[in-house]
Amino acid sequence: MTPDELKALVRTIPDFPKRGIQFRDITTLIGNGRGFSASVEWLAERVEGSQAIAGMEARGFIFGAAVAAHLGLPFLPIRKPGKLPCNTIGVDYELEYGLDRLEMDPLAVTPGQPVAIVDDLLATGGTALAATKLLRQAGAAVSRAAFVIDLPDLGGGRRLAEVDVKVDSLMSFE
Ligand code: PRP
Ligand code: ADE
Repeated sequence: MTPDELKALVRTIPDFPKRGIQFRDITTLIGNGRGFSASVEWLAERVEGSQAIAGMEARGFIFGAAVAAHLGLPFLPIRKPGKLPCNTIGVDYELEYGLDRLEMDPLAVTPGQPVAIVDDLLATGGTALAATKLLRQAGAAVSRAAFVIDLPDLGGGRRLAEVDVKVDSLMSFE
């Protein structure tokens, strides 16, 4: 499937979760088996060579875990607060539509391990920056991130480039 065909599978819902937000919904993309599989293959090609894949709860788990399994790599879940049973490190961050926090197991990576970030969507970059910060704090080498959707007007790609993370995205919505 072409990137344009995959883009046509993403549903846009206006004013969710707040007035003024155009919500780019991947439910309809993953609800199409060929579309889901083609998206995972595209992402996997971009992060090949990494030694582990990190994905952020919740939508990042869908693509991140699938990419990790596709490449035969470990998957590192980066979770919303209070979910991990072990000792955690955490970071607070801002979203396009609110505030949140991410946590991870600091023992999940080995020193210098190259870890790639995979998520469904890049908006302000707050989530991916928080994940980068956490992974680096745990000792990982983070230099790549792959997304299904980029919202370039919100500047996430630029913010990730500033911290030396190279970004690839399958499609963008202006
Ligand atoms: C969404 C999306 C990304 C993030 C992108 O997750 O899945 O992780 O927002 O926005 P940003 O670039 O401005 O940080 P959300 O926090 O809504 O949680 P969900 O995956 O649980 O739906
Ligand atoms: N996460 C942050 N901004 C979003 C948007 N506009 N659509 C879907 N998920 C998002």
